[in-house]
Amino acid sequence: MLIAERDGEIVGGALAFRAGGAVKLEVIALAPEARRSGIGRQLIERIEDEAMRVGARQLYLGGATAENRGLYWRLGFSERRSLMQKAIQRHRRAPD
Ligand SMILES: CC(C)(COP(=O)(O)OP(=O)(O)OC[C@H]1O[C@@H](n2cnc3c(N)ncnc32)[C@H](O)[C@@H]1OP(=O)(O)O)[C@@H](O)C(=O)NCCC(=O)NCCS
Repeated sequence: MLIAERDGEIVGGALAFRAGGAVKLEVIALAPEARRSGIGRQLIERIEDEAMRVGARQLYLGGATAENRGLYWRLGFSERRSLMQKAIQRHRRAPD
């Protein structure tokens, strides 16, 4: 579970868990005023880092809505049946 803070305030978070050889992103949500400033991307990248660390090969989620599908497309997910999914690979930013 990840908690996102901005200026000392909790503004959202994400919950993910291991599911066989994959990691499932169960929920990610930010306060309306904290959206579209890169926090969602950072949370998902942290989850990808952790998924890679534990040897998972895929990150996926169900239930993406029409409004937030754009985020997942942007972050390299593809859609298969009702799932958004992404192969786990080393990415551009080093963890803090
Ligand atoms: C979904 C959510 C977590 C995204 O977090 P966010 O901080 O707003 O997303 P970011 O600012 O990190 O966006 C990352 C990239 O995706 C893009 N993006 C984000 N939301 C988008 C949308 N709705 N449509 C298209 N692109 C989107 C951004 O432009 C950004 O691209 P860039 O880095 O190339 O500029 C947030 O909007 C939210 O809490 N929504 C309500 C709850 C929800 O729908 N949760 C998901 C359930 S599946």
